[in-house]
Amino acid sequence: MEHGTAAGPGPHHEIGDGTRAVRAGLPDPVKYEPTMPGPVFAAHFHLPGEPTGPYTYGRDTNPTWTHLERAIGELEAPGRDVETVAFASGMAAISAVLFSQLRVGDAVVLPDDGYQALPLVREQLTAFGIEVRTAPTARDAQLDVLAGARLLWIETPSNPGLDVCDIRRLARAAHEQGTLVAVDNTLATPLGQRPLELGADFSVASDTKGMTGHGDILLGHVTCEDPELAAGVRGWRKIAGAIPGPMEAWLAHRSLATLQLRVDRQCANALLLARALSGRADVSGLRYLGLPDDPSHAVATTQMRRYGCVVSFVLPDRDHAERFLDGLRLVDDATSFGGVRSTAERRGRWGGDAVPEGFVRFSVGAEDPDDLIADVLRALTEAAA
Ligand SMILES: Cc1ncc(COP(=O)(O)O)c(C=O)c1O
Repeated sequence: MEHGTAAGPGPHHEIGDGTRAVRAGLPDPVKYEPTMPGPVFAAHFHLPGEPTGPYTYGRDTNPTWTHLERAIGELEAPGRDVETVAFASGMAAISAVLFSQLRVGDAVVLPDDGYQALPLVREQLTAFGIEVRTAPTARDAQLDVLAGARLLWIETPSNPGLDVCDIRRLARAAHEQGTLVAVDNTLATPLGQRPLELGADFSVASDTKGMTGHGDILLGHVTCEDPELAAGVRGWRKIAGAIPGPMEAWLAHRSLATLQLRVDRQCANALLLARALSGRADVSGLRYLGLPDDPSHAVATTQMRRYGCVVSFVLPDRDHAERFLDGLRLVDDATSFGGVRSTAERRGRWGGDAVPEGFVRFSVGAEDPDDLIADVLRALTEAAA
């Protein structure tokens, strides 16, 4: 078996996600070396003579990043020659794509229902003389404002609304007119969706969420196939300095080994929870992509391999939602999503999303499903009393 590339036991055998995840990014075996090297803490490296790589200065490169970046690349686009650039956070990765690619006078299309920090990015883009157009994710509405844009930014499934657009269709239309396409793949993770295979130029994510999955580190990445685009993103990281710490990069790589176990368990739990909530009188607007009657299910099925761990629903009002969240014992009232411990929050408390006051975003963890569902149903009953 070829080590380091999770190539598989034979020429015609396509390996599974779990095998790929546990082997992703491992270096070739060297006698007496660890199978997975520890984090390399170095601001600089011994560098006599000509200052050429691979390892020169700690803001440019680090061997721990190299292993993580290879691992993510193998998951994002198995069998393809892609480059991944790791960042200190998801926002650092998003900013790197936007600010390395866009110039004054360019137009960019963003979703108007994307991650809640995008409006802040929009302000900065506008201040730099870039025209920002927005449209909803649902029904591929971004197509309506695409003409002549330099970059199309997609977030699918959207967060927290769980709308889905057709990546293949948008990418085809964008490329016909020379527009680049980036997909924020945070919610799906590469096990749920592979944007590069669907036609995107950049797959971008906050690895703070499901990729690392334990709610203890911030990290992000960008993966692309075109070396020139990758060089632009890498160059931006060097000048912005938004680099991951070696410890975070190593923890992230370690976490990837359990990605398939975590994601499969969380998706299965999410479907069970969504089914338990459906039809209840106190729950409206229930959304889970895996439910066959979800408005996004049909499109999601054409491009997603797993439906993710986020379930959302609306309780009658703000107080009702607060009582529900207070009553949960196995679910933390916290933001973010994708972790092994379930979290839920009343999303309207942040003020940035167009959601009702009683809207709850629920990130389903890896608990035993019977325990989790019993906790949720009990908290709902108490909140209604
Ligand atoms: C979809 C999405 N993209 C990007 C981000 C930003 O990531 P980070 O918090 O790691 O900077 C988030 C964070 O919640 C997110 O949900």
